[in-house]
Amino acid sequence: MAALKILVIPGSLRTGSLNAKLAAVAAYQIAQAGAEVTRISLADFPLPIYDGDLQARSGVPKNAVNLKRMIGAHHGVLIVTPEYNASVPPLVKNTIDWVTRVQEAQETRGQVFRGRAFAIAAASQSRLGGSRSLAALRSILSACQALVIPNQLALPFAGEAYDDMDKLRHPADIEALDALVRQLIEISQRLT
Ligand SMILES: Cc1cc2nc3c(=O)[nH]c(=O)nc-3n(C[C@H](O)[C@H](O)[C@H](O)COP(=O)(O)O)c2cc1C
Repeated sequence: MAALKILVIPGSLRTGSLNAKLAAVAAYQIAQAGAEVTRISLADFPLPIYDGDLQARSGVPKNAVNLKRMIGAHHGVLIVTPEYNASVPPLVKNTIDWVTRVQEAQETRGQVFRGRAFAIAAASQSRLGGSRSLAALRSILSACQALVIPNQLALPFAGEAYDDMDKLRHPADIEALDALVRQLIEISQRLT
């Protein structure tokens, strides 16, 4: 059987991003668990803020189509998002919004989300670890009819969570991330 493919999407473009670090560790653990992993940066898929007039004028931007195809080429997706003002950052919401507008031949709009397994994680300096962002992201993806797996990871005090090699310092965090990626792989496998 072909290898199970998992796509990892960090929801921050910032140099030294705590979420990009978590995404990198997750990608490593996914590979260790036997799946094929692709980790992207949304910097490679720049998109304007969604505007219906822009879409009416110029259609859905090519980067949204490319990202939709990238998602479609994977069995499961992990989004690692920061928390901004108790919700998801505009980068994450705007990207999802554009991808839901993609409709290619033989497809219904937003089809790439439906029935596909998504896992969600967040890293934050705060005690809550970005858990309010996860609640918002779960709600958004569920509205897109994605299958958001029950496990999720909110990494608190993330400024102190990594060592000099950007690996997770604490065994409990490594285990929690491992549980998340294993459930994502298992559920993605079941959906294939
Ligand atoms: C506009 C803005 C709002 C923020 N709101 C929150 C928040 O509600 N909760 C939280 O835990 N951190 C909040 N933060 C801090 C971010 O969690 C922190 O900047 C984090 O490092 C961003 O993720 P990154 O390191 O992956 O870029 C906010 C940061 C910004 C810029």
